[in-house]
Amino acid sequence: MSILNKVKNYREEERRLRWEGTFADYLEIIRDKPEVAQTAHSRVFNMIKDSGIEKKDGKKVYEFFSDEIFGLEEAIERLVEEYFHPAAKRLDVRKRILLLMGPVSGGKSTIVSLLKRGLEEFSRTDAGAVYAIKGCPMHEDPLHLIPQHLREEFFEEFGIRIEGNLSPLNTMRLEQDYNGKIEDVIIERIFFSEDKRVGIGTFSPSDPKSQDIADLTGSIDFSTIAEFGSESDPRAYRFDGELNKANRGMMEFQEILKSDEKFLWHLLSLTQEGNFKAGRFALISADELIVAHTNESEYRSFIANKKNEALHSRIIVMPIPYNLRVSEEEKIYEKMIKGSDMAHVHIAPRALRVAAIFSILTRLKESKKQGIDLVKKMRLYDGENVEGFNKIDLEELQKEYSDEGMNGIDPRYVINRISSTIIRKEVPSINALDVLRSLKDGLEQHPSISKEDKEKYINYIAVARKEYDEIAKKEVQKAFVYSYEESAKSLMNNYLDNVEAFCNKNKLRDPLTGEEMNPDEKLMRSIEEQIGISENAKKAFREEILIRLSAFARKGQRFDYNSHERLREAIQKKLFADLKDVVKITTSSQTPDESQLKKVNEVIARLIDEYGYNSTSANELLRYVGSLLNR
Ligand SMILES: Nc1ncnc2c1ncn2[C@@H]1O[C@H](COP(=O)(O)OP(=O)(O)OP(=O)(O)O)[C@@H](O)[C@H]1O
Ligand SMILES: [Mg+2]
Repeated sequence: MSILNKVKNYREEERRLRWEGTFADYLEIIRDKPEVAQTAHSRVFNMIKDSGIEKKDGKKVYEFFSDEIFGLEEAIERLVEEYFHPAAKRLDVRKRILLLMGPVSGGKSTIVSLLKRGLEEFSRTDAGAVYAIKGCPMHEDPLHLIPQHLREEFFEEFGIRIEGNLSPLNTMRLEQDYNGKIEDVIIERIFFSEDKRVGIGTFSPSDPKSQDIADLTGSIDFSTIAEFGSESDPRAYRFDGELNKANRGMMEFQEILKSDEKFLWHLLSLTQEGNFKAGRFALISADELIVAHTNESEYRSFIANKKNEALHSRIIVMPIPYNLRVSEEEKIYEKMIKGSDMAHVHIAPRALRVAAIFSILTRLKESKKQGIDLVKKMRLYDGENVEGFNKIDLEELQKEYSDEGMNGIDPRYVINRISSTIIRKEVPSINALDVLRSLKDGLEQHPSISKEDKEKYINYIAVARKEYDEIAKKEVQKAFVYSYEESAKSLMNNYLDNVEAFCNKNKLRDPLTGEEMNPDEKLMRSIEEQIGISENAKKAFREEILIRLSAFARKGQRFDYNSHERLREAIQKKLFADLKDVVKITTSSQTPDESQLKKVNEVIARLIDEYGYNSTSANELLRYVGSLLNR
């Protein structure tokens, strides 16, 4: 019922938004709200801008894209600032076809479809409202009615520049239906809809021999020629090509570089001059954003061809590389799985992360920088701290190759492998090892990976596996402690008490017996050794901690478990080291005794309740870690 209500509300909303009036009424609207008369490019830009811009690590994140597109903040920022923004200001880039260039399954189509769906919605808002001459198949801009010689005056009064001439069809209708009185012409508000072919179009080339330019620019309507007597009567022409229908909005041109040249020339004249030729008419003005996409090799061979030079200079290419951050890649997989019919399957926690590690490794290029291997680079890219490297190093790494992310494993491959694992395994649960195995097996059948790359990739599977081993061990160890955070906190407080007594040459008081004791040197060392602090360095380290502690106290801040990075690491490692033996015994005993069994069951319950496992994947994890620790 609620869905039917929603449909009803939508219908009512549309009815409420509807508007119809004369051109004279329309002029009053744009006097108040000149943005109504904006160009298609400007509307797209405002749509993106209005969704909001967030600042993250000094970078701009355009929220318009951020629910669907992950890890491409730089590419998106470039797309907006180098294309949409200047195009909205009527700068020259607007006169070029926007070509998204990137590797397969890198999100190009997703970006285009976000723009299309976005425009449909935006045209239903106040800020994105669009008006057109009623009954015009191209939803012509009403301002085209203003004659050329009055446009300068119009600009002075309204502050709006008019581009384009009244189309042959509307010129004729103006004479015949309105007696030449532009103020009487009926104007209506329109709502973009790809389904209804209003303001949004898609052109996809088919066989070049059979494809007709009519698909793009419309065609003569033979059924009405007899009635109107001539092919050059605009009433005998159907303005129903994609370019006609996408007027005022945007058109997606699929596989642009595969299409026949004659199609491209039409586009060029449209983008360059704002008009195109259809049938036997004078040029037809149109205002629309044209977006196309292609991959790198197709693009290279296109520009290598001298014949394409003129076209080339009228295209603006925006690279859309693969995402290079592990955490973002995980989000891509989650999104794709949520939208598929695998959504009911249990995918063990960390399985997608491990797949993401593999994918990112295949996309990264080895750095020439000292001391940095691919795994460290991957971590830095993902915003992790890597000992000995800082933000500046990260920026240098990112600048080292301009074409990083243009090849490697694509997200669709990973999702396909995951789904084939699910089908083969016949259980509604898969884990990280299943995924890695399947990624590896799939490489054999992958059609477009060279032998050389295949070897490299198999090696990356092994690296991802090693990463997983560490992740798995940590996960289990964490689950063994009743409350990990609590234990860490109390261990740290204990350490701090001892450090304080040590530095101030004080004694500690035993909380139970009240007896005075010396600082517990053994405890302090057992923590410090975890991060390699030598006997000679211990005093300096303890003093540094104490200084930090008092700095916090002075500012009235609480010094906690996360306040000192190295200390946190030491505490973490110490907790794990203590646990290692327990974990080892408990998980690998063939015949666990009663208390061991109880412990194992507790851990499994915790993995399920707190870490997102199910009983199958939790048992698998425990067995695997047991075998790792017994090696
Ligand atoms: N950076 C990304 N963020 C979010 N989703 C992504 C990203 N890259 C790829 N995807 C997802 O991968 C799938 C394939 O993407 P899409 O079809 O947009 O790629 P494409 O670049 O058009 O590929 P092709 O060249 O094969 O046409 C989609 O489900 C898309 O959502
Ligand atoms: Mg695509």
